[in-house]
Amino acid sequence: MSGHKEIDAVTGAETTGHVWDGDLKELNKPLPRWWLYVLYASIVWSIGYWVLYPTWPLVSTYTHGMLGYSQRIEVARDIAAGKESQAKFVAAIAAKPIADIEKDPDLMEFVLRGGAAQFSNNCAPCHGRGAQGFKGYPNLNDDDWLWGGTVETIERTLRYGVRSGHPDTHDSAMPRFGVDQVLTSAQISDAADFVRSLSGAKADPAAIERGKGIFAEQCAACHGADAKGNQEMGAPNLADAIWLYGGEKSDVVETIRTGRAGIGVMPAWEGKLDPVTIKMLTIYVHSLGGGK
Ligand code: HEC
Ligand code: HEC
Repeated sequence: MSGHKEIDAVTGAETTGHVWDGDLKELNKPLPRWWLYVLYASIVWSIGYWVLYPTWPLVSTYTHGMLGYSQRIEVARDIAAGKESQAKFVAAIAAKPIADIEKDPDLMEFVLRGGAAQFSNNCAPCHGRGAQGFKGYPNLNDDDWLWGGTVETIERTLRYGVRSGHPDTHDSAMPRFGVDQVLTSAQISDAADFVRSLSGAKADPAAIERGKGIFAEQCAACHGADAKGNQEMGAPNLADAIWLYGGEKSDVVETIRTGRAGIGVMPAWEGKLDPVTIKMLTIYVHSLGGGK
């Protein structure tokens, strides 16, 4: 090691004076300027950051910084703002008639989101995630209604249910024409052919004609002379090719034979869900596509 600096002949750069193994010399190459400026700028920035923002842990607390920023406070503030606007919406839903709510786009957005969430919690197990229904559990998207598709009738169905045991419940029972031996198997078959023909199904014209007579006698009182149903009684439209219990010949025969009564109960939601939730669900169901 020699103590004095010199110019390296190969690179033309100054050496630090450090020499190894007799002739390995260390060049003194300064840091690039841009690198130094970035370093200085970072130092200045970090000092500014320490001053303004929470930075250093102390024994039981930390340096808070001059801006008083805290993610915890930010989150608390966001939650408070969310609750406040939610409370505003809830109060508006409680106060306004449904027709007015449906005219208010902001409120409707809140109602439909909340309604969809409540629907998956409370209704989807029976009516399906998309409200498409299952055998005996009606599809709520179509415009075929057992008990009516206006907001008033939907709300009523939600509040009191069907065969729910609530004092104001809807109640309906299709008679058991086969089980109770009101009709013979042949008559049931004819009635089924007639009913299915109203939705375009083919069958022996003589059977359809006989079925028509049976229908007028036994069925029209509830389903209507035109078979288009009666929402006062929850008697479905039999002429729309939409089937609660299936539209194959064997399904319809089974329905007429057994009445299918009591397969499904629609619970009464009054008392189980608060009035605002019932209102939101009513509007949600009404919005699904089949609302009148
Ligand atoms: C335990 C099963 C069950 C659950 C849960 C249920 N429903 Fe029902 N729902 C039924 C059945 C069964 C019917 C058909 C009743 C009948 O045959 O008349 C029905 C009928 C309806 C009707 C009447 C459809 C029409 O055509 O008139 C509406 C509206 C309805 N449900 C909405 C809902 C909503 C909204 C919820 C959730 C809050 C819900 N249901 C939860 C079983 C259920
Ligand atoms: C006392 C009233 C009443 C009479 C009479 C009656 N029905 Fe019904 N029918 C109903 C009701 C109510 C339902 C719906 C049952 C339910 O919601 O579970 C129904 C359902 C049906 C269905 C199922 C429809 C579907 O979408 O799957 C068919 C089919 C049917 N009835 C045919 C008949 C025929 C045929 C007769 C005559 C032989 C008849 N009904 C007589 C009340 C009646």
